[in-house]
Amino acid sequence: MEPVKVGLVGLGTVGSGTVNVLTRNAKEISRRAGRGIELVHAAARDIAKRRSCPTDGIALTTDPFEVVNNPQISILVELIGGTDLALEIVQTAIANGKHVVTANKALIAKHGNEIFAAASEKGVMVAFEAAVAGGIPIIKAIREGLAGNQIQWLAGIINGTGNFILSEMRDKGRDFADVLAQAQELGYAEADPTFDVEGVDAAHKLTILASIAFGVPLQFERVYTEGISHITREDVKYAEELGYRIKHLGVARKTDVGIELRVHPTLIPSRRLIANVDGVMNAVLVYGDAVGPTLYYGAGAGSEPTASAVVGDIVDVTRTLTADPENRVPHLAFQPDALSDLPVLPVEEVETAYYLRMRAADRPGVLADVTRILSDQHISIEAIIQKEPALDAKEVSIIMLTHTLRERQMIEALQRIEALASITGSITRIRVEQLGAA
Ligand code: HSE
Repeated sequence: MEPVKVGLVGLGTVGSGTVNVLTRNAKEISRRAGRGIELVHAAARDIAKRRSCPTDGIALTTDPFEVVNNPQISILVELIGGTDLALEIVQTAIANGKHVVTANKALIAKHGNEIFAAASEKGVMVAFEAAVAGGIPIIKAIREGLAGNQIQWLAGIINGTGNFILSEMRDKGRDFADVLAQAQELGYAEADPTFDVEGVDAAHKLTILASIAFGVPLQFERVYTEGISHITREDVKYAEELGYRIKHLGVARKTDVGIELRVHPTLIPSRRLIANVDGVMNAVLVYGDAVGPTLYYGAGAGSEPTASAVVGDIVDVTRTLTADPENRVPHLAFQPDALSDLPVLPVEEVETAYYLRMRAADRPGVLADVTRILSDQHISIEAIIQKEPALDAKEVSIIMLTHTLRERQMIEALQRIEALASITGSITRIRVEQLGAA
């Protein structure tokens, strides 16, 4: 059979990795795909630049639309990132009847609904395994491997840069900015690194995971997002004392009344496997009613790990080129006419336990005032630590763990506690997840 011809837009970190993997593993890949896969045309901003991949036999251009409009090409691989030009490229490729493979999480999270509708209309596939958790085949696992389950919740470390920063800060006491700069040098960080540290990148990925897990449309704008820049070494230390680790998690949970979609720093018990996922590694814990908990671990960023997912998609698309479009795996796992309209819950309705840290005057009755307010809001305390004040200091740190409660109760309680004359500044509040069972 004729080799399938592929065009590539974007020859950066992931693009170069894709060329290297396709070249090095060409034989193995064609044994799997049933035919050869030939990269014939690629667009890059600077075609004269020295690259870490071979480009012989590939026609190079600076104009992505030359690739998208090349009639020889059946599969267009989009690896430029961003949502403006990338959207135009993907829409044009679909309109030209080409299948698309993309690593672009922002594009899928924000425009996936319209992209998939256009692709279904044209009978082409849009594959996006590399958009979530780099090299971990998590899309395939949830969409196909767990298709027999009702997924109840999932929780993931889905931003390698953020996890790398938290791990280095904890283990080596390194400075936030210094670790971030290293992540940028290594090609892990987003073009705008605030996307990594403020949770936007994780929110893009969580949007995609929740859709394929629960069969709901992509709803990026409904994700509650909180970053890691306010986490202090003190919190990391107290969390350890209480038997927890702080991880930046994306959590999606299905309840009877709606779906929780949230990205925030989270205390998780140190004994959980996922609490021990360090550095740039990612992990996603998925709880299905039939299978129970399953954990997927691997490199969440980087040139060849992400290329592994891109090439996996190219092989997948190649295998199904001849399959009847009605009988392919649906883009969002569920048939498009069977998507659920279960709402995404406002964060005030979310239920979690909490870690609280506050600075309080060291005098009788202060703790009683705090616990009275918590009790008025029906908030039950699970653990409490009061640190001895430093010599001559007039304030102490009080650290508490609560039982599970609704966020609205916590917001009200915190407002009242912060208004007490004996409490200084704002209270640090980090959600706690046990990640045990359903
Ligand atoms: N900036 C992302 C991360 C790259 O650090 O995980 C992979 O999506």
